[in-house]
Amino acid sequence: MAYLELRHIEKSFGKRHVVKDLSLSIEKHEFVTLLGPSGCGKTTVLRMIAGFEQPDSGEIEIEGESLLSVPANKRGIGMVFQSYALFPNLNARQNISFGMEIAGYNRRETEERVRELLEVFHLKEVATSYPSQLSGGEQQRVALARAIIMRPKLLLLDEPLSALDAKIRAALRDELREIHRRFQLTTVFVTHDQEEGLSMSDAIAVINDGIVEQYGTPVEIYNRPLTPFVAGFVGRLNLLDCEVVDGSKGIVRFGDQELKIQADADLIPGEPIQLTIRPENIALEGNVTENRLTGRLKRTTFGGAWIRMEVSTLGRMLILEVSNDPRGTMPQIGDEVSLYIRPEDLVRMVKRIVPLDVQ
Ligand SMILES: Nc1ncnc2c1ncn2[C@@H]1O[C@H](COP(=O)(O)OP(=O)(O)OP(=O)(O)O)[C@@H](O)[C@H]1O
Ligand SMILES: [Mg+2]
Repeated sequence: MAYLELRHIEKSFGKRHVVKDLSLSIEKHEFVTLLGPSGCGKTTVLRMIAGFEQPDSGEIEIEGESLLSVPANKRGIGMVFQSYALFPNLNARQNISFGMEIAGYNRRETEERVRELLEVFHLKEVATSYPSQLSGGEQQRVALARAIIMRPKLLLLDEPLSALDAKIRAALRDELREIHRRFQLTTVFVTHDQEEGLSMSDAIAVINDGIVEQYGTPVEIYNRPLTPFVAGFVGRLNLLDCEVVDGSKGIVRFGDQELKIQADADLIPGEPIQLTIRPENIALEGNVTENRLTGRLKRTTFGGAWIRMEVSTLGRMLILEVSNDPRGTMPQIGDEVSLYIRPEDLVRMVKRIVPLDVQ
């Protein structure tokens, strides 16, 4: 049994079915991200864990104990939202210590803990400033310190970085990871930013329209997306519609060209199959005979360390990204180019999503 379990959660608002048979297992000390587009139900899931919404059915447990009959303020959960929501009439230090004071902790213990948090969150210099005098990044650090001062069983973060500008967001992203490492808080983080999800999480649940499409490590999600949605939402991607020729030999047809993929005896000859490949896994290569596609270079984008190329082949546009080699010669727009795809980089899409079933 995992530390936090969500089992078969259903939630509708009126006729809108917002969360559909959602199950997730989160281990203690894990940093798990709910990643998905706007409106897919991420905040609703967090609010149900926090106790601000009740699921229509399903179960939410921490360490085997149901949370559903426990009121929000008794769940022992810390939460930070996108908007800072600090007490405007309290300074940074008072905002942070508020929870401990209300709970009646003795003064020495509270002061010690606040001092530690001011230090960890780099807030010492602004401890006596009021929210209106703090920058966005500082306000979010205060909100984080305030959320964890009581050592919550669970920390819920709803897009806490999205209102910040790019530079501060990147800095706070690293800090959040550092803080997570230090305090070992089991954390559920919500974002619609795939880069944020990939760089911060132990595990990611990719959510689409209230359904968990895939739950796995960032590497699994990126390298082995199971559904077209996951593949398309996380990173750039090429989709190749093929037809199985011989499953046990791993041969498919793409246009009039045969490609080798990983062998799978379950593949039925003649069956359509969708394969994906990441732009960085397609190489410019003239000297191969197998898995070689030729096409015409239509467009290039210079990205510094890499160059993105759009190549038209067999009636499709393939995107590839090659690293920038200042000593090499690059093809020009209009040139015919040869592309090489390694069989193991062609990832097969599973047709329909199987919601995760937690025992
Ligand atoms: N209290 C409510 N009453 C009615 N509908 C709601 C309520 N809360 C959320 N919804 C609807 O449920 C859907 C999911 O909303 P939710 O806020 O969970 O999405 P989200 O994934 O957090 O999106 P975003 O990335 O934009 O924050 C939306 O269509 C929203 O309009
Ligand atoms: Mg939201």
